[in-house]
Amino acid sequence: MSRFREPQHQDFQRLNASLSFDRRLWPYDIAQSRAHAKMLARVKIISEQDRDALVGGLDEVEGELREERFPFQESDEDIHMAIERRLTEIVGAVGGRLHTARSRNDQVATDVALYTRARAREAKAAIEGLMAELVRRAEEHVDWPMPGYTHLQRAQPVYLAHHLLAYFWMLARDRQRFVFVEGQLSRLPLGAGALAGVSFETDRDFIARELGFDAPAPNSIDAVSNRDFVLDYLSAAATCATHLSRLGAEIVLWCSSEFGFCELPDAWSAGSSIMPQKKNPDAAELLRAKAPRVAGHLAAMHGVLHGLPLTYNKDMQEDKEHLFDAVDTLELALAAARGMVAGVVFDRERMAQAASDEMIAATDVADLLVRRGMPFREAHGVVAGLVRTAVDSGRALSALSAEELAAQSELLDSDEARADYYKVLERESWIESKVSEGGTALARVREQLDEARAVLTDAPGA
Ligand code: ARG
Repeated sequence: MSRFREPQHQDFQRLNASLSFDRRLWPYDIAQSRAHAKMLARVKIISEQDRDALVGGLDEVEGELREERFPFQESDEDIHMAIERRLTEIVGAVGGRLHTARSRNDQVATDVALYTRARAREAKAAIEGLMAELVRRAEEHVDWPMPGYTHLQRAQPVYLAHHLLAYFWMLARDRQRFVFVEGQLSRLPLGAGALAGVSFETDRDFIARELGFDAPAPNSIDAVSNRDFVLDYLSAAATCATHLSRLGAEIVLWCSSEFGFCELPDAWSAGSSIMPQKKNPDAAELLRAKAPRVAGHLAAMHGVLHGLPLTYNKDMQEDKEHLFDAVDTLELALAAARGMVAGVVFDRERMAQAASDEMIAATDVADLLVRRGMPFREAHGVVAGLVRTAVDSGRALSALSAEELAAQSELLDSDEARADYYKVLERESWIESKVSEGGTALARVREQLDEARAVLTDAPGA
């Protein structure tokens, strides 16, 4: 029986159906139905025989889904209806008892929560894999000098390890964000019913334990309306994807002949259809381009939820494609980043060469004047004068004469001052001068590596 006299319009059915994308929720739908059936028998809402029939039937349905022989039908609106329909075909009328004390509203909220929790854990593990790879590559290149950049202009030299570890710390924060996402998934929606609770004395604690939640959600209205955890996942994913896009962008630059700092392994490179000499960093470019897609899903999800009256509204079905595509995109991006970081080959000579431009030591010359009592702003001006003199005459800073030094500042007009000046301009001294905590001097990078290893081994949020 139905209250409707006319069938649904075909286009409405197409608009309404979510099966094409929500079928990936099946493992969670089966798990929650199993827990729900057990609970119903525990509190004597159904008999033990009925429970056994339901659980046995769910096992069969699960097998069909796992082996991809589940007979989906045109008329299945979503995965929840499909599973219940099939269960009833298998076990008969008792299948209709499963939905006692449950609504699709608390059901779908629970499935999506379980799914999000599983993917947040997966993201955390994948991030850790990439962090470990960065530490390994940093250890291998601990004292390889390269230019550090601002505005994509050579600024100050750093060690490659220092640069690689910058990504490690971004990812460490990303990992924390996914720990937070998991924490937002500690309360069980199931048992909220359509919105107001159900008219049976159910045992929500039992289901919470079965499904790994800390406790039932305290408010049935909030339980079925809440999709904050989707926003939280998307937000964490968008930030992480943004970090990976910066990594991708640097790989693209560094692999160019102009930089020549590194070469990607063949497994992560593409050829050109017309230029046989080319080796293109397509994977790194895609890493760069995927971030806005994930951020777009976050923005879209804010759009779906904003202004929605409580409680469940069909709008919320739109959470899934945004979430699922973000999950797929992030997981693939993390795998690609790991593959590229693991296999990229750096060119020590090219990097050292690029870092040997003396101009890069200009700040150190200014610091030398500061140590002799000059205020930094003034020293900055003096060194700018030296740089202008050198650039105008096509010479290096170390090639300036005693007279030229003296012309810029009397603090540079003594044998001792000149000796310090030429010393500061010797290659290793610039990079090793950055001795402050968190700086690039080798001893500090080694300290940083120790800290990174420690961060990697302690389980966050545990
Ligand atoms: N497919 C729906 C969704 O994803 C399931 C919940 C439907 N609930 C309802 N009251 N129509 O949101």
